[in-house]
Amino acid sequence: MSEGVNVFLVGAGPGDPDLLTVRAVRLIQEAEVVVLDRLISPDILKIIPKGASCIYAGKAPGQHYFSQDEINEMLVKLARSGRRIVRLKGGDPFVFGRGGEEALVLAENGIPFEVIPGVSAASGCGAAMGIPLTHRGLATGVRLVTGHCRDNGELKLNWSSLADPDTTLVIYMGLGTIGEIAENLMKAGLPASTPAAAVQNGTTGAERRLITTLSELPAQVVADGFEPPTLFIIGRVVSLADVLGLQAVEDEGDLSGGELSAHG
Ligand SMILES: C[S@@+](CC[C@H](N)C(=O)[O-])C[C@H]1O[C@@H](n2cnc3c(N)ncnc32)[C@H](O)[C@@H]1O
Repeated sequence: MSEGVNVFLVGAGPGDPDLLTVRAVRLIQEAEVVVLDRLISPDILKIIPKGASCIYAGKAPGQHYFSQDEINEMLVKLARSGRRIVRLKGGDPFVFGRGGEEALVLAENGIPFEVIPGVSAASGCGAAMGIPLTHRGLATGVRLVTGHCRDNGELKLNWSSLADPDTTLVIYMGLGTIGEIAENLMKAGLPASTPAAAVQNGTTGAERRLITTLSELPAQVVADGFEPPTLFIIGRVVSLADVLGLQAVEDEGDLSGGELSAHG
């Protein structure tokens, strides 16, 4: 632990406890107070020491237990208590997790803190489904976008810039707006046949997947009853799931022969 730091904004990854960083596990095990997000999986909750106080600051859609201001205020108060505080956030704290806002409030109050990165849903779910987010010849870049609009208003995204067939688009929090998103992307020129994936509870035992096309995605998601947390990946790289997604399953338990040494 860095000298004088007792507050840690820790990324918990997408759900599978094996995807926690070593540092995250250590900090959770040493925590005196853990302030939790809604998306923390039950397997990760098991790592929290019995003696630690857990504060559930989860926000369910339309159901706010603590406002963001209240969470910020609580973090400042807890930090000043001198106890070891872990603010545990799903995925990576700095990717659509409002970790930046919490860090700013701590900084403004002169409270030293550390941010421990986590595996964001984009990379965790991509890996689980066999979808590389970039791939030579298929995608030269990746954009992480929120599908959530403030106060349920209109989504204000730059559709012409997002409708780029050479870039992978990953949409967080887009379950309620995926129809609007797909329609706008197609209007802006992204082909209706662009491969598209949805994954719910990626990397956990409750994972559900769907591989389809951009035009079919909204109706399929409704027909299949997808629920939060769901992530969308749109782009040519999704076509690799047919080969790489299956590969991951087939290779399990067949590591004989042809292995490279760690230095190989
Ligand atoms: C508030 S954002 C938090 C993102 C998080 N900080 C990260 O880096 O992954 C919550 C959204 O992330 C996505 N998400 C997080 N974990 C997921 C998972 N295991 N499977 C699918 N989507 C997930 C969903 O789109 C969900 O609505």
